[in-house]
Amino acid sequence: MMKNRITELLGIEYPIISAAMTWVTSAEFVAAVSNAGGMGVLGPNAGQSEKATSAEDMADRLTKEIRKVKALTDKPFAVNYIFPMGGATEDPFTNAVFDVLLRENVKNVIAIGQQVVERELKRLKEHDIKVVYRDLSPTVEKLVEAEKTGVDALIVTGYEAGGHMSDYKISTLSLVPQITSIVKIPVIAAGGIIDGQGAKAAFSMGAEGVYMGTRFIATKENPASIETKKAIVNVKSEEFIEFKSGMGHLRTIPTEAGKKALELINQGNHAEAYKYYGEGFKIGMLDGDLINGTISVSEAAGGIQHILTCQEVVDEIVKSIG
Ligand SMILES: Cc1cc2nc3c(=O)[nH]c(=O)nc-3n(C[C@H](O)[C@H](O)[C@H](O)COP(=O)(O)O)c2cc1C
Repeated sequence: MMKNRITELLGIEYPIISAAMTWVTSAEFVAAVSNAGGMGVLGPNAGQSEKATSAEDMADRLTKEIRKVKALTDKPFAVNYIFPMGGATEDPFTNAVFDVLLRENVKNVIAIGQQVVERELKRLKEHDIKVVYRDLSPTVEKLVEAEKTGVDALIVTGYEAGGHMSDYKISTLSLVPQITSIVKIPVIAAGGIIDGQGAKAAFSMGAEGVYMGTRFIATKENPASIETKKAIVNVKSEEFIEFKSGMGHLRTIPTEAGKKALELINQGNHAEAYKYYGEGFKIGMLDGDLINGTISVSEAAGGIQHILTCQEVVDEIVKSIG
């Protein structure tokens, strides 16, 4: 047991959180992280192998996944909450997730967006849901603004992160201390943290929790294909390719689809490139197609040598941070 503002806020034993990741979370995985004393987060398409056909279909599937988590653990967990983007104030998928949270009495969300959407925050807070906000392209200015809106905690993500990276190439080591020295609410560090050493560094910069995606994909309980997990174990940090995507930047192991996307983007053909990196995301990450898919993970993957259990990942970090 380790007490700080993050463990108190979320009701968890250790301030170690597995990231919301599209396709590569599931009830079994989330429960494994929560049962290990951290907190699991259901991401988009959790436990699925096909895209939902509508907001209602998505809500039904999410409900089933949440109920499975509850059957597997009595510990806290969270759900990814996507604020409407591009200046929109409403989104049918966000509305559907909101209704599910209330019906299923979910207490914690990891909210993401280009900025905090006040209408969303207000209704979540009205129902006593804890809101941890992760800005997709964090800067000091944006996170100071986010704090003012009343979110409970911030996740500060550096450019080393897996998934869609920020518009700005600011590393975790550069960004986290700039935020912790300014804001008063607790900060969770993300991006390139794969073990106790990284967690120690994050805590020494004033963070009170770690949020880890890539490390948790290469675990026994994660639904990603074994081929994807092996690719993470085998990749060297210098091998990745990277390009500007529709949503920030994307880094991928140089699969055929990844190389093709890079080539098309260099030619200015973003729409065609999306077919490779956008549609390749699920088939790479979940299905393990290392030719037609993309494997978009942290550059820190070079340091991941073994597929572990979630318990082993959490235990090693707990040992380091004491
Ligand atoms: C394959 C993959 C998919 C992701 N999808 C999402 C997502 O759907 N929603 C989200 O909030 N973050 C998503 N992320 C970002 C993570 O939540 C987190 O910020 C990131 O993994 C942290 O960096 P790390 O991978 O270096 O630990 C994704 C990350 C990965 C690796």
